[in-house]
Amino acid sequence: MTKIRYAQVGIGGRSQLFSRAIVEEFADTSELVALCDNNVGRLRLRVGWAGERDVEVKTYQDDEFDRMIAETRPDVVIVTTQDSLHDKYICRAMELGCDVMTEKPMTTDEQKCQRIIDTQHKTGRQCTVTFNYRYAPPRTQIKDLLMSGVIGNVVSVDFHWLLDTRHGADYFRRWHRHKRNSGGLMVHKATHHFDLVNWWLSTVPETVYATGTRNFYRPETADRYGLTQRGQRCLDCPAAAKCSFHLDLREYPELRRMYLETEQHDGYFRDRCVFGADIDIEDTVDVVVNYRNGAMMSYSLHSFMPWEGYIVTFNGVKGRLEHICQESVYFSGDGSVPGELMPEGTKIKIFLHSQSAYGVEIWQSEGGHGGADPIMVKDLFAPASVEDKYKRAADYRSGAWSILTGVAANRSMASGKPVRIDDLIHNLPDPDYPPMPAPTDPLEIVSQKSAAPEWFKKEVRDEK
Ligand SMILES: NC(=O)c1ccc[n+]([C@@H]2O[C@H](COP(=O)([O-])OP(=O)(O)OC[C@H]3O[C@@H](n4cnc5c(N)ncnc54)[C@H](O)[C@@H]3O)[C@@H](O)[C@H]2O)c1
Repeated sequence: MTKIRYAQVGIGGRSQLFSRAIVEEFADTSELVALCDNNVGRLRLRVGWAGERDVEVKTYQDDEFDRMIAETRPDVVIVTTQDSLHDKYICRAMELGCDVMTEKPMTTDEQKCQRIIDTQHKTGRQCTVTFNYRYAPPRTQIKDLLMSGVIGNVVSVDFHWLLDTRHGADYFRRWHRHKRNSGGLMVHKATHHFDLVNWWLSTVPETVYATGTRNFYRPETADRYGLTQRGQRCLDCPAAAKCSFHLDLREYPELRRMYLETEQHDGYFRDRCVFGADIDIEDTVDVVVNYRNGAMMSYSLHSFMPWEGYIVTFNGVKGRLEHICQESVYFSGDGSVPGELMPEGTKIKIFLHSQSAYGVEIWQSEGGHGGADPIMVKDLFAPASVEDKYKRAADYRSGAWSILTGVAANRSMASGKPVRIDDLIHNLPDPDYPPMPAPTDPLEIVSQKSAAPEWFKKEVRDEK
């Protein structure tokens, strides 16, 4: 059997998920042929890891990408570099005849996004965007409930995402702290959330208005905490003993090996002070989005909260669906399972007009990002022969529509004005979303006392 040949570019924390899938779980059908990174230390680490599994893999520096493709002839290039470099590798890989799997966000601004769209249209290559959040069982379940029509067609969404002072603060230590690298949290992080809403409602955004600022991760906050004598990074910070944001890379074997012991090769410090004056991303943002199907969303992101997770509410013409989800506490790449759902903090509740509200039993599974990562990896490397009724697999179209809300939010924050997505991009087809319930007349529905639908069997409790 011919195996699919994979090359990976950007061999940092997230790339491990894909290396493991190719070399371990799906080794019967997949082959890892090449690795590319600008940091020779991280390349050596991954080569050593593969060698322990009897896999030999060639390595290339970032300026040897074309040679890597010519010499190793991969079918698919997996892109997990920092966000602002995705477009460079996505486009070049497609031009050189490869398919692409890229991590989110597909890219960071509208010009790069247009280049990806145009290159995909020119080459016809497949460009998959790995939106793992769609695969987390409770989030798939939300899609299932909305598709069932239980609350009728959705007219508005209230969506509030909270990042805590551990994982959330980490964005302010790493390359993400500069918009030129990440597009800020509206692109880097919220691409997940905006993709979920596009997919949950099977629609795309039309206009975006946003307001945001950096309230917490500022020098003034550190001064208020009495951390006046602080350094540029945690490793040698004089204020380390009294700073509750201090991260000692030496204490985490994964972080030490991957970043501290390789920093002489690229000068990248993974533990910069979260209160640095050079940070230019927001930590507090409010966004209003209008969608093509007439729905509206009110969204917020706060990244200095006491817990991590989200609260999302869908207001439909038949009723209201409320979902709350609490995630585990972690540092990105610290070796623990990232973003596990806390079962006791994850709930779905449905309120229908003229009926009792009830909770719904949550679909669960284990693994990173709410159980999403293992399910997505299986779909990427061993897709089922039956069609996924939720159409979770995403390509460049969903990748583009999801970042455009964040890109528009960045522009709106800068100008103070609403931004039309049409003014940012052209020739972007709609994603392939599942059909949703047809719009219903709200007055007709409110006056009905409909019988409980079939999926009501999942009801676990009945609350007034
Ligand atoms: N879907 C998810 O849940 C999820 C989770 C984590 C990260 N990610 C995404 O994965 C990507 C990587 O994030 P990470 O946390 O692994 O970051 P990281 O900093 O650990 O890894 C980035 C890698 O890119 C390499 N790199 C930098 N410049 C390069 C260049 N010019 N050419 C080639 N390689 C270069 C770095 O040396 C590093 O090895 C990001 O796009 C991020 O958004 C997604």
